[in-house]
Amino acid sequence: MPKFRILDDIDVRGKRVLLRADLNVPVKDGRVTDPTRIERLAPTIEALIAKGAKVIVMSHFGRPKGEPDPALSLRPLVEPLEKAIGGRDVVFASDCIGDEAKRVVAGLKPSQVALLENLRFHKGEEANSAEFARSLAELGDVYVDDAFSAAHRAHASIDALTRLLPAAAGKLMEAELHALNAALESPARPVLALVGGAKVSTKLDLLRFIIGKVDLLAIGGAMANTLLLAQGKEVGRSLCERDMTETARQLLALAADRNCRVILPEDAVVAPELASGVASREVAIDAVPRDAMILDIGAKTVARIGAALGEARTLVWNGPLGAFETPPFDRGTNAVAQRAAQLTRDGKLLSVAGGGDTVAALASAGLSDELSYVSTAGGAFLEWLEGRELPGVAALSRAGGGAEH
Ligand code: 3PG
Repeated sequence: MPKFRILDDIDVRGKRVLLRADLNVPVKDGRVTDPTRIERLAPTIEALIAKGAKVIVMSHFGRPKGEPDPALSLRPLVEPLEKAIGGRDVVFASDCIGDEAKRVVAGLKPSQVALLENLRFHKGEEANSAEFARSLAELGDVYVDDAFSAAHRAHASIDALTRLLPAAAGKLMEAELHALNAALESPARPVLALVGGAKVSTKLDLLRFIIGKVDLLAIGGAMANTLLLAQGKEVGRSLCERDMTETARQLLALAADRNCRVILPEDAVVAPELASGVASREVAIDAVPRDAMILDIGAKTVARIGAALGEARTLVWNGPLGAFETPPFDRGTNAVAQRAAQLTRDGKLLSVAGGGDTVAALASAGLSDELSYVSTAGGAFLEWLEGRELPGVAALSRAGGGAEH
């Protein structure tokens, strides 16, 4: 676990606190469709308000490529942010640096909150520019990073800024790091990793890393088809990567070498095409018809993964196990999620999940609050599962000064 300062370690009373948040939330027609990231940020803002800080929230939103883009303004986030912090006012600054930002910040009294315009409207943000970081640093006395989900980006507001101001982790960052540490760095064993999604090729680094860390690895989703092919099975018209079969074979050999037990589907739900309402049936994995597609794991596989969950003390989950967006092919993922939730409720399993599709699948199963921890991160969660150092976390520990939290 990296050492870093947390909110309790810093004195913020009356000080200007630059709070790096991740307000990169899904928005449709000007409305936030999933406020989870805003809600999970709120406790940090509330703690800073309670301590009498002047809170200056900054974030990126979308990928505007270093130019102002009205469609990617953070202004529509003011209201949802106000709602998340109990209806307190949030003042908006239409630029994140310069005179406008300085004016808004100068007008803040202790316990008031401002939101700065999208950091990525300036090229210096993604370039990790020291000059841009200096312009941001002029607005604050202390820096707090609560954007774990952007920690895989070495951008100015995440990296360079920590060289200019005393830095600490916010409550969400702290919670994410605790949960991830408990799941892979010092977990209760056996550890089961549940990995799904479409392609082996996008999760190669992840698979290689976790094979060396976990005791059991259950694979579902279309990526399992490539591994089945590597075992000489026929997968019909299923999504798979025929050019990755040799790599898949090597992964299976690596798992055997590391004593990591791999669980692959032993049955599947197949249909002629991926469409809702299409006729589907369950078949044994060595009886997949040539003209059919595998779209979900079957009941026997659900039971097998369920048994592995029963054996495990820790679960790390990334990736849905079937084409969950098109019912009924969400059944396998939902059934496994229910079992993980039950074991978590019973205190038998520490369960951590993350990644955009996984979070969406858990939300559609109504189980987002039922696991021990569901990360707000997509790309950052994946990079962490690949064993990579996240620049945002590295910057906080370099800024140091803290204990092992
Ligand atoms: C995310 O939504 O995963 C983060 O906010 C990072 O966004 P980015 O991929 O545009 O850097």
